[in-house]
Amino acid sequence: MSPSSARDRLASLSSHIMASSSSSVFTAATVAAAPEDPLFGLMKAYREDPSDKKVDLGIGAYRDNNAKPWILPVVKKADNAIHNDPNLNHEYLSIGGLAEFTAAAQKLIAGGDSPAIQEKRVCSLQTISGTGAVHLGGLFLAKFHPQKPTIYVSNPTWANHNQIFTNVGLKLAQYPYFSAQTKGLDIDGMLQTLRTAPTGSVIVLHACAHNPTGVDPTQEQWRQIAAVMRERQHFPFFDTAYQGFASGDLARDAWAIRYFIAQGFELCVAQSFAKNFGLYGERTGAFHFVSAPGPDAATASSHIASQLAILQRSEISNPPAYGARIAGRVLNDPALFAEWEVDLRTMSGRIQEMRTGLRERLEARGTPGSWDHITSQIGMFSFTGLTEGQVKILRDKWHVYMTKNGRISMAGLNTNNLDYFAEAVDSVVRETS
Ligand SMILES: Cc1ncc(COP(=O)(O)O)c(C=O)c1O
Repeated sequence: MSPSSARDRLASLSSHIMASSSSSVFTAATVAAAPEDPLFGLMKAYREDPSDKKVDLGIGAYRDNNAKPWILPVVKKADNAIHNDPNLNHEYLSIGGLAEFTAAAQKLIAGGDSPAIQEKRVCSLQTISGTGAVHLGGLFLAKFHPQKPTIYVSNPTWANHNQIFTNVGLKLAQYPYFSAQTKGLDIDGMLQTLRTAPTGSVIVLHACAHNPTGVDPTQEQWRQIAAVMRERQHFPFFDTAYQGFASGDLARDAWAIRYFIAQGFELCVAQSFAKNFGLYGERTGAFHFVSAPGPDAATASSHIASQLAILQRSEISNPPAYGARIAGRVLNDPALFAEWEVDLRTMSGRIQEMRTGLRERLEARGTPGSWDHITSQIGMFSFTGLTEGQVKILRDKWHVYMTKNGRISMAGLNTNNLDYFAEAVDSVVRETS
């Protein structure tokens, strides 16, 4: 062996020994395997099921009557116009996002004639859809709220609330929301917890189409909630992911937020355009902070905007442009806006028909239990009251996929699978009662 090849061999041997004896910080033992996201796991199981009868009632995404994703006609129109725009480029947006989008998004939330906007006490940033808005709001509260308050979410709530708020270091608690007996709102339990929560707590409220229950407070109940929150000086954190999608009426679905703003609350809003524009993958949303009225409000609002911009810069630098261009174009053009409202009524109307159709079919079969909650609940989801065991049988025997808490995405039902689903529920409920 020549001296140089002996040296090479020695070097390779010693690096091998070093590699096998070097210690790793991130071993399998230090980083435990995380459980699969239940919803995305459900989607995967559905995709892998070869049955031609399978029904997907899991993910909260709109489907047309053929169980296909639906591109809103108005979105197609705006998309074409954007592609044909000779001035379009792919430069960065500003840190706060596309100004014409955020200004229009703000009006959609607070109302076009909102005094809060005129008084310059609403600041808005474009975010990575609703999730990014919830996160930015959580981060801001964790950093700037002087009392490090507890944040209360409804029981149950959108599962991601729990991990987003915990991840930014907020203390989490729950308020009662759903009554298993009435399958409606537990208003007494909710108000009682709001009364006893420490003064100045943050309360997360779903503006409409509560996820996962489909149960919303009535306007009278919202007034009661606002009265208790004012008395206890709680801070409302609205999450609105279904405006216009719930009732088909944008103003009606924003009623609670506008009422709280009119009552002079200081509050924040996480807004998603995923569902109401069908822009799920484009991650289009906004975060709004509304300061309470007062001589200092506009200055406070500009300070808050500046701090939010720092947080945004460090997390995403600046938001993605494509979805905001589409939504911004529609929101700012009266003719397109009117077409959007028609599309919203198409989606909410079809879902409403599925609610009526399902209830009628279950009642016609005499399925044990009462099913009026299917039509009294609103929005993308229905909390059916089916138990975890029943959900399992529906999946194993009938190839029907839903989350184990008995929530179904109404958009997964259509005139082709409604009878089959009603037959499946009827059979499983009888088998287990
Ligand atoms: C209550 C609630 N908040 C926020 C979101 C955020 O969704 P996205 O990040 O897709 O806009 C959702 C979506 O399911 C939701 O139901």
